[in-house]
Amino acid sequence: MVRLRRYRYYLFLATVVVFLLYRVVQNNEQWETVSASFPYAVTPSKSKLPPTTKLGANNQPDASFENFSAQDDDLPRRILENTGKEEISKAPDLATAQKSGVDGDERRLDNPPKDPAPIKQPGFLTYDHDEATKAKTAPNVNVPEMKIGHGVKGAGNPPVKADPTAVHWEKTPENFPVLESEIIPLPGGKPRKIPTIQYAFEKESSESRDIREARQAQVKAEMERSWAGYWKYAKGHDELSPVTRKFRDPFCGWAATLVDSLDTLWIMGMEDEFEEALQEVEKIDFTLGQRREIPVFETTIRYLGGLLAAYDVSSGKNGGYNILLEKARELAEILMGAFDTPNRMPILYYNWRPQSASQPKRASTHVSVAELGSLAMEFTRLAQITRENKYYDAVARITDAFYEWQERGTSIPGIFPEHVDVSGCNRTAQNELEAAQSAAELESHDKTQKPNDQVGESNRVKTHELGRSEENTPLNKKDSKTGRLGESILPECVSQGLTTGGWGAEQYSMGGSQDSTYEYFPKQWLLLGGLEPKYKELHLKVSEAVKKWLLYRPMVPDDRDALFSAKVFTRGEPETDAKTEYEVTHLTCFIGGMFGMAGKIFEIPGDVEIGKKLTEGCVWAYESTPTGIMPESAGVLPCLDAQDCHWNITQYEVGLDPLFDSREKQIEQYYEGKARAKAAKEREREREREAKKLTSDSTSSTHQAGKSKALLDEELPGTSHLNHEDVGLQRRAPFTDVRDPEHNEPERHAVITQRELDDSDPAPGPHKAITGQIPLGEDDTDEKDPLRPLSHKEFIAKRIKDEKLPTGFVDVGSSAYILRPEAIESVWYMYRITGDKMWQDKGWNMFKAIVRYTTTEAGNSAIDNVLTKDAVQLDEMESFWTAETLKYFYLLYSEPNVISLDNWVLNTEAHPFKRPKTSFGV
Ligand SMILES: *[C@@H]1O[C@H](CO)[C@@H](O)[C@H](O)[C@H]1NC(C)=O
Ligand SMILES: *[C@@H]1O[C@H](CO)[C@@H](O)[C@H](O)[C@H]1NC(C)=O
Ligand SMILES: *[C@@H]1O[C@H](CO)[C@@H](O)[C@H](O)[C@H]1NC(C)=O
Repeated sequence: MVRLRRYRYYLFLATVVVFLLYRVVQNNEQWETVSASFPYAVTPSKSKLPPTTKLGANNQPDASFENFSAQDDDLPRRILENTGKEEISKAPDLATAQKSGVDGDERRLDNPPKDPAPIKQPGFLTYDHDEATKAKTAPNVNVPEMKIGHGVKGAGNPPVKADPTAVHWEKTPENFPVLESEIIPLPGGKPRKIPTIQYAFEKESSESRDIREARQAQVKAEMERSWAGYWKYAKGHDELSPVTRKFRDPFCGWAATLVDSLDTLWIMGMEDEFEEALQEVEKIDFTLGQRREIPVFETTIRYLGGLLAAYDVSSGKNGGYNILLEKARELAEILMGAFDTPNRMPILYYNWRPQSASQPKRASTHVSVAELGSLAMEFTRLAQITRENKYYDAVARITDAFYEWQERGTSIPGIFPEHVDVSGCNRTAQNELEAAQSAAELESHDKTQKPNDQVGESNRVKTHELGRSEENTPLNKKDSKTGRLGESILPECVSQGLTTGGWGAEQYSMGGSQDSTYEYFPKQWLLLGGLEPKYKELHLKVSEAVKKWLLYRPMVPDDRDALFSAKVFTRGEPETDAKTEYEVTHLTCFIGGMFGMAGKIFEIPGDVEIGKKLTEGCVWAYESTPTGIMPESAGVLPCLDAQDCHWNITQYEVGLDPLFDSREKQIEQYYEGKARAKAAKEREREREREAKKLTSDSTSSTHQAGKSKALLDEELPGTSHLNHEDVGLQRRAPFTDVRDPEHNEPERHAVITQRELDDSDPAPGPHKAITGQIPLGEDDTDEKDPLRPLSHKEFIAKRIKDEKLPTGFVDVGSSAYILRPEAIESVWYMYRITGDKMWQDKGWNMFKAIVRYTTTEAGNSAIDNVLTKDAVQLDEMESFWTAETLKYFYLLYSEPNVISLDNWVLNTEAHPFKRPKTSFGV
């Protein structure tokens, strides 16, 4: 335990140092303040958005719960049915916010709003690389104030003028194009028969239907409120700031919340809002961005995924909302430039401006595995819809690279380290080659001129061959016929596949920066109708590794049979050097749903059971806090025996205080020191007395001596100036009562103890501060001696109190809740897979808790601390609140054939894509 803590401390320090260095290097570029403006005001075109068709009541009147089958997904029909009766639950403020200018059924897209189209405000927007990246993949709660713009309707906004310096994206010729003949095509053919995922739901009773529908209505009311707030204060911007009612633009300012929420609006039957939002979608100009670099992962999952899912749920081509597909293509065209590298691995922070985009580049030596692997579904779905293989080719090459790497082997076979080098260049080999080259040149110099050229030539040939021998990067060779212009400009490189990137120990987990790559393997298999076996193989090896290395059962007070997925650190020999961090993070909560779904489609019942236990873990984490909401990240203790695990308070207390066995000794030493000091003081006084006595005896009469001694005895306790050591001690301890010099000794001792403690365990955290932070009381009784080191029990009590630790948690790394969806996502999967209403009830408790603490007038806000009922709202509403969290809650209380998992597969941003039912391929 102690070693683990120390290890974490070093790791933490190293991370900080690396981060700071990185920041210094990147500083100029990334914190650039951009003031962009949007002169773009489009009049909605009628042709692109056909009038709505309302099939209405003549459809099957009430098909609810008459045994839903996998083939019976009636989403579009249900939506259209619902639109008629939809007004009832509409929130009043929503109605006022939205019906500006146009009324009721008159409000059609062929009636453009009377108000001039709102124009995006420039605000002052800061490019924050990490903020935007981590928003999905890692905790992120503190947003710099300067990011906040003014509300669209805020008073006194100056009219926006065209920015003459704004540079639009332009298509530039590719430096490393893929030959037409080498484009990897979508696997074609008839989709395989895949086992059903959803439970065969029976007809529900009218009571349970009433409960379900009442809950669903409350979820929808939250959506209506949040949407109205966004519409009113942040329309056209990325995010609403729900407390201050302003906006922020961390995702290029392309209206992230709006695009991300389109399918939610449709699924919830908010068709008017959907169509109104489409007018805004038309105005988005993806060729103009407020960031120099496009965060490719976030842009893909939120924008591209959002557009494609909105297209799919609104019946695709038949729905007639072609603008969605047009915009998806427009965006994808820009994103495709990111793949223009020698090994076709993407540049994940893509500088889209022509002068940069046209330059040949390699992909980074240091990317997060999640960002690399989570583009697959969106580009695949786009390829299916457009029947253009190039989009599939882009992501298939990444999959092939992962597949090759998994086969070649990672430190923990089956899974990948968090940081990946995707540059395709083997530095080690290149260095060896260059060393050999210069050695050879030196040698040839010695042997005089002749073979000089030949040596150089043969080495270049070697480079060439190595490049070719890598199956994984077949394109990494010079060939004038391919038109790969960039090759001759970039430095030479010995090619390689994916490898570990970054420094220090490798990290393996299912959490942030890794999560969705794993999530996408089984989902991608579904999206491809089971026709690409690589995804199944990838998943099966992942799940074996997760079961072997990461899953653990937490020791919790009610002994419930739950699981979590840990993080493992290794320097390459996990069998001997693996360190496990028993973490509990909100982002990892998606994994229950993944195990459940994959267990169904690959027919591994044990994995479905694991999925339930993993989901139960996150439910426990929600139930354990005073707010009923799980913290962003925390730590618990693993059961020593997962089969037979009981809450053991002794073990828990040891977990809270890993240094417990040194505490008694510290106290002992403290008292010894105190006793020694007291004895020393006594001796000192004795000597003083002796000295005085001697002096008076030798110099004065007996009379004087007697008087002096009496005086001295009286004076001594307070007149410490008589003693030099006392004076010194007093300076060191200005707070002590001067009349009682004894107080000084312990203070000195405490300092030593602190130093000893530091030496024995450099871990940061609460126990470091114990001796330093003891309140300075006056009482000198043993129990309350403020300087006495804490006992094991006292230390624990203090930690629990100071850190507000809920029972079962041994630490809370981040106590925030930022409206994340992963826990309810898994609960929803469990409900759809098992049909057990228990999951609906668990989800309802989560919903009530979240609404209670996050609701603001204009929407819902992230909160700083789930461990106290006085949590503070942080003024952030990420687009995943309306895109994911509310969607999963809504679907939990929908009829089970709405977005049936047997007909749809959801991307990591909860965007449903239609699963193929008939032959496909191009
Ligand atoms: C519904 O399913 C139940 C159980 O699977 C079956 O007994 C019943 O006949 C089914 N009803 C209909 C209408 O298909
Ligand atoms: C890189 O080159 C070194 C030295 O030639 C070799 O040992 C290593 O396996 C290579 N790495 C990869 C990932 O190909
Ligand atoms: C709790 O754990 C401690 C230490 O592992 C052990 O000695 C003790 O017997 C356990 N108590 C119970 C009730 O199992």
